[in-house]
Amino acid sequence: MKDVYILAIETSCDETSMAIVKNGHEIDSFTVLTQMDTHAQFGGVVPEIASRMHTENITMVLEETLKKGSRTMEQIDAIAVTYAPGLLGSLLVGVEFAKTLALVYKKPLIAVHHTIGHIYANNINNELKFPLLALAVSGGHTDLIKMEQDYKFEILGSTLDDAIGECFDKVARVLDLKYPGGPNVEKLALEGNPTYSMPKPVNDNTYNFSFSGLKSAVINLVHNERQRGNEIRKSDLACSFQVSAIDELKRKVELALQNTKIKSLIIAGGVASSSYLREEITKVAQKYDVEVNVPEKKYCTDNAAMIGAAAYPLYLQQKFAGFDLNALSQTPFINEE
Ligand code: KG4
Ligand code: ZN
Repeated sequence: MKDVYILAIETSCDETSMAIVKNGHEIDSFTVLTQMDTHAQFGGVVPEIASRMHTENITMVLEETLKKGSRTMEQIDAIAVTYAPGLLGSLLVGVEFAKTLALVYKKPLIAVHHTIGHIYANNINNELKFPLLALAVSGGHTDLIKMEQDYKFEILGSTLDDAIGECFDKVARVLDLKYPGGPNVEKLALEGNPTYSMPKPVNDNTYNFSFSGLKSAVINLVHNERQRGNEIRKSDLACSFQVSAIDELKRKVELALQNTKIKSLIIAGGVASSSYLREEITKVAQKYDVEVNVPEKKYCTDNAAMIGAAAYPLYLQQKFAGFDLNALSQTPFINEE
């Protein structure tokens, strides 16, 4: 079969990223331009600034991606783009850019769901092994998903309140750590011990998660101690929070592994770049003789390589989008037949 090269575009949040992905698995070229330093000054992503910066940088990111890769635009087989979920203004920049390229170069257009992209990051230099369980953990998602085959998603459970990455970011902020908080909480936690007592999670038997009680407990604890003039042992608090948050994931993953007897587990999304999370989930999986796969760290946080990987099965099924494709800030997973 002829090799398939997909040019993928991702602009759903604060990274302008493009990649050329060969046959859904190999990276021919990869560029990520992060706006992190700009947003760090404000303690979080400012949507208006994000979309403006995507507009300013997107042509440059395309030039760079083509320069580093082995294909010209004419030699590309399809254009893939994240259309949802994410910041609407940011998504629109990518979607309109992708439509323009598809129109000018007469290429099919492929619309990719961002979280499905995170899952398919596990196909880069690797192969998804079905049936599998996917733990999708990012700034916007905390989902436990069963997949029997490509693009067949059964959501077993989701967060009932905050996403886990969002909690890491909020806790980071109250501990005066820079945005994005997750990696900084993890770094600080390495210097501490879990000496603070954290609220016990609700012990239900569903696969749903809850993080807002834990987040509020940490924020309240910091405010109360500050009001009393007491010192906070920040590294111990970061460690206590992290242990508790990851324990919540471990409990539900363990329950799903026990009940489904599935032998392949993948972890996806920005929070999957946490070494602590990787180690702890792997320990749980080993108890059940389950193989764990996690993307390389650069493919865990937002990037276009994962969008190219997720677009490939859609390309094979000729599932193309029309020029009426719109960006959506929220949308559920789509099961393809
Ligand atoms: O997937 P992603 O890049 O963007 C979204 O789609 O949301 O995930 C970003 C999230 C942020 O909340 C960030 O704090 C979190 O992933 N994150 C981490 C770590 N690295 C990134 N959370 C905990 N520990 C980490 N090492
Ligand atoms: Zn993401």
